Amino acid sequence: LEPLELVDQLVRHMPPSPRPSDPSSPSLPASMPEASSRFGPREPAGSGGRALAGQKVVITAGPTREAIDPVRFISNRSSGRMGYALAEAACEAGAEVVLISGPTALPAPKGVTRIDVETALQMRAAVLEQMPCDLFIATAAVADYRAAEPAPGKIKKSADELELRLVKNPDILSEVASRDPHTEGRPFTVGFAAETDHVLEHARDKLVRKRLDMIAANRVGEGLAFDQPDNALTVLWPGGQAELPKADKRLLARQLIELIAQRIDQRA
Ligand code: C5P
Repeated sequence: LEPLELVDQLVRHMPPSPRPSDPSSPSLPASMPEASSRFGPREPAGSGGRALAGQKVVITAGPTREAIDPVRFISNRSSGRMGYALAEAACEAGAEVVLISGPTALPAPKGVTRIDVETALQMRAAVLEQMPCDLFIATAAVADYRAAEPAPGKIKKSADELELRLVKNPDILSEVASRDPHTEGRPFTVGFAAETDHVLEHARDKLVRKRLDMIAANRVGEGLAFDQPDNALTVLWPGGQAELPKADKRLLARQLIELIAQRIDQRA
């Protein structure tokens, strides 16, 4: 498992965690019909209009789970908090929000449509089904690799060593960012970079390599960011950057949504 960037774990004998049910935001099957994107003009800020009014926003959140066998999986430490906070903030800013979430213990924010997925492949399919949209924010900690051949039955611990062959998962964010703006509809695309070292260097590299409009970088490890209520972000875009100092993730999310809305306006 060494190549996995986010200390992926093998979690044994754990059934999927129960999802809290929120009648105001039903979990929809990934096969729901595609909602149309309005691509409407934004209401001007400062005139009583909300920053993302009329926009369709798609957000990925949480970890993915990649089955090893029917009772074990590869996953990571993402709690989903940042993505859920962004979904809430985008909704407050007037957007129609679809939150595509891996397994988390969080209730869907009010007014947000949540689509539940488990694996990276399911997340990708659910995201593509929601295209086109106006804004795509990828906060999900997608497992970089999945088992090449998940075992159909529970693997027995008879052997002293066990080899697990992994294959790379598709990069959902890159795929969305590579959409043709003229023929396919390309959203303003925002990624996250969770790094343990050389945070800005890696983030700037991802911004360029994945062809993003913006990336929010944060340091992880040693009790930072993952599964924590607060976080600090450095936000980078082609030609600029901003610091969002350590704050509760909900406050940070509102600031990031405001920054995104400003950048969308400046580009228009
Ligand atoms: O390359 P890295 O995984 O560090 O990039 C992180 C960003 O890419 C995050 O925004 C994450 O949601 C997104 N991502 C993705 N699909 C993957 C891997 C990462 O959308 N398979």
